[in-house]
Amino acid sequence: MLLDIKSGDEVILPSYTFVSTANAFVRRGAAVFVDIREDTLNIDEQLIEAAFTQRTRAIVPVHYAGVSCEMDSVVEIAERHNLKIVEDAAQGIMASYKGARLAISAASAFMKRKHQFGRRRQPSGK
Ligand SMILES: Cc1ncc(COP(=O)(O)O)c(C=O)c1O
Repeated sequence: MLLDIKSGDEVILPSYTFVSTANAFVRRGAAVFVDIREDTLNIDEQLIEAAFTQRTRAIVPVHYAGVSCEMDSVVEIAERHNLKIVEDAAQGIMASYKGARLAISAASAFMKRKHQFGRRRQPSGK
């Protein structure tokens, strides 16, 4: 709802994920499933670009079982195509990607100025 996904919009998700994560976008007819990697069971970042169309609005990386998606690639693709990223780090408590805690960035995922993955919470709490 916060992304204002409308009829015809598309959102890229991993083919293997928690049902409520998928349902949020399936309900709007927007889900486009991309296959996962055999080694991490996370979305295969090398297949995301092929799923992109002019209707794509967002990518939803789901960090499965405490293992981070390849966020450098996800962020690079999202920035290049001006897409939003909605991370699901429900299984990422205490997990990290290149030194940044997954769950912290996920908790602030809907705050516009904290959208970029990997931004750490500042000492002031901002
Ligand atoms: C990957 C993932 N996303 C989201 C959720 C949370 O789902 P819900 O909000 O339906 O409890 C879970 C819960 O286990 C999960 O494993």
